Amino acid sequence: MKKAIAVQDFDNLDIDLEEFRKYGYKVIDAITEYYSTIKDRKIISESSSKEIEKVFEETLPLTGTSVNNILGEWHNRVLPHTTHLGSPRYFGFVNGSGSMISVFADALATSVNMNSGGWKAGPAATEIERRVIKWIAELINYPTICGGLLVGGGTIANFSALLTALRNTADYNTTEEGLQSNKKRGKFTLYMSDHEGHISIVKAADMINLGRNAIRRVPSNEDLTMNTDALEKMLDEDIKDGLIPFCIVAQVGSINVGVVDPLERIAEICKERKLWFHADGACGAFGAILPEIAQMYKGLEQADSVTLDPHKWLYIPYEAGCLLVKEEEKLRRTFSIAAPYLQGTLPSDYNGLDFFEYGPQMSRGFNALKIWMTIKNYGKEGYQKLLRQNILCAKHLHQLVLQSDVFVPMHQPQLFIYAFRFFPLQLRNKNEEEIKSYLDVMNQKIADTITASGFAFIMTSKIKEKIVIRLSICSHRTTIQDIDKVFEKLTTIAGELKEKKEIY
Ligand SMILES: Cc1ncc(COP(=O)(O)O)c(C=O)c1O
Repeated sequence: MKKAIAVQDFDNLDIDLEEFRKYGYKVIDAITEYYSTIKDRKIISESSSKEIEKVFEETLPLTGTSVNNILGEWHNRVLPHTTHLGSPRYFGFVNGSGSMISVFADALATSVNMNSGGWKAGPAATEIERRVIKWIAELINYPTICGGLLVGGGTIANFSALLTALRNTADYNTTEEGLQSNKKRGKFTLYMSDHEGHISIVKAADMINLGRNAIRRVPSNEDLTMNTDALEKMLDEDIKDGLIPFCIVAQVGSINVGVVDPLERIAEICKERKLWFHADGACGAFGAILPEIAQMYKGLEQADSVTLDPHKWLYIPYEAGCLLVKEEEKLRRTFSIAAPYLQGTLPSDYNGLDFFEYGPQMSRGFNALKIWMTIKNYGKEGYQKLLRQNILCAKHLHQLVLQSDVFVPMHQPQLFIYAFRFFPLQLRNKNEEEIKSYLDVMNQKIADTITASGFAFIMTSKIKEKIVIRLSICSHRTTIQDIDKVFEKLTTIAGELKEKKEIY
């Protein structure tokens, strides 16, 4: 008989508890120190991407390293090459700033390591997520009888929404037969505005295998909202051509200019034609918590599904996306699948909610905790204050641009996104088309220069084919003084570049 392995040969490699406590305090000290300096830090690393790649080049560790050395790596290698999204002058993409209580939430959630894919592996995690979904619905005045779940971000929320839309509108069983069925009568199509429709919808259409061309781009109004007359005309023509429209996607706070599509009208069109109404509110749906702009969101409550991104305008650290679906059963039907190994036996009163039945993931982290704790920490009123501050900053920036000889506005700010363009007064009597490439290059260069300085992080985008400077002001730390300082710096940079006639 073989000798049994002795118990003392086993080792779980857990950290010694006293050591854990000691380093835990050190970590919290380091994080506190970080927060105390976040406003003054250079926002980007000074190293190039190649240099940073090199910093992390190392062979696979074959033997273990002490906690002390590993935590030292955070200070020596990670922090110096961090982009500080929590800075009040970070305005890139549509990136949120990260609530502080989420640091506690993430540490605590990780300590218990619940899997919120199934109720049995995460009862409290499941119930907290269920509650968070209800609170998010309530915050934006969406019917709280809705279903929904947390996902990694807006793209996965949009993917889940479009699949749910297709499953619940197609006239044959797409779950079992997919797109290969001979019952399919034609090409499925969906609709979003041509200028502001977000690429995550294109990605989602691709992922559900409809092909990117399934997206029909609806002409926009002057303010870049969807033109619903054009939408109706397009639908009529497409149906005549044998296409099968199944979903309209409205932007609720769009990527370039933060506009909200005419939701009530889109809801009516969807109802009349039995189409799925999806609202992509990743950027701006949380604005619905402000009564003073509630009018803009009228009709959102009629959407069949809504995408939200708590990691954007709810200031939750990555990742935190969310999908709401008005009729929960439609979401469940889309993703539910059974297997004997998912059932098992538990006490007979078990009737918990299994989130793996409601979305693309089986295993899921305990992301609900940081949202739950942050909503408790700020309260609805706290959030209203923060959102108002962001909108105020965008409006203030608009005023500065209006008074400037250097920049011109590209739109009226609606929410927290604001775009404008370098176009100095001396050149405004010229034919803009003839100097377009000069202006484009200057706008890009101005944004790149301020970002390279580490003082602010600003990107460009394109509005009606013109390169514009675009700020996404969704940090809970940004103040009017930050906007003033950044605008002053942008004006100085523009003057210096003009003088140097620097064009790359
Ligand atoms: C309108 C809109 N929808 C969807 C997304 C995608 O969200 P995520 O980056 O969280 O996947 C974004 C991202 O900026 C967005 O602005």
